[in-house]
Amino acid sequence: MKLMATWLNINAQDSASPLMEQLTFFHDHAMLILLIITLIVSYIMATLFTNKYINRFLLEGQTIELIWTIAPAVTLIFIALPSLRLLYLLDEINCPLVSAKSIGHQWYWSYELSDFKTIEFDSYMIPANEMKPFNFRLLDVDNRLPLPFKSQIRMMVSSTDVIHSWTIPSAGVKIDASPGRLNQTTFFLNRPGLFFGQCSEICGTNHSFMPIVIESISPKSFINWVKSY
Ligand code: CUA
Repeated sequence: MKLMATWLNINAQDSASPLMEQLTFFHDHAMLILLIITLIVSYIMATLFTNKYINRFLLEGQTIELIWTIAPAVTLIFIALPSLRLLYLLDEINCPLVSAKSIGHQWYWSYELSDFKTIEFDSYMIPANEMKPFNFRLLDVDNRLPLPFKSQIRMMVSSTDVIHSWTIPSAGVKIDASPGRLNQTTFFLNRPGLFFGQCSEICGTNHSFMPIVIESISPKSFINWVKSY
């Protein structure tokens, strides 16, 4: 399972949400089309090396022009329609059970959960010299965001200074945190675990050092955490 960035990864991280699963399927679909086009074009280009160019009377080719105009257009439709489906699916809110707010700062995130009572905390990266043996370098934070799995989550994202981006690849979430604007996104975690992300908008010198960590826990444990906060 790849639920955080490690070395030599080519593909996306494994999904921990239905939307990320759909995004992975779309990626594979687009890559397959890309591979087919690359192979066809490579074959045609390779063929050119053995072409003797002996047809002195060729001035136009209506048929081939019709084919190489329509074929790419049809190919684009096969990419555009699933892409559009996914776009609207990602925008669907689906009656969330829990709402959480994330606010970007230079250079840390702060969280607010006001569904139950006022919960507010800051989330800073753990510096390399303060790391414990179980911490992940450049990815772990002092205060993670606990969220219940198997529940629809509404994430509200904003910023106090510059544009940041709240991103959790395995949950299929990436949304800009803009000052003076409240963005909304939603996700559904289908299992427990730690899900890591990093700020994905170039926001200043410490842009690389404001990671995001979700602690996906059972709804029961989440309620206990809220009670004990
Ligand atoms: Cu915050 Cu990049």
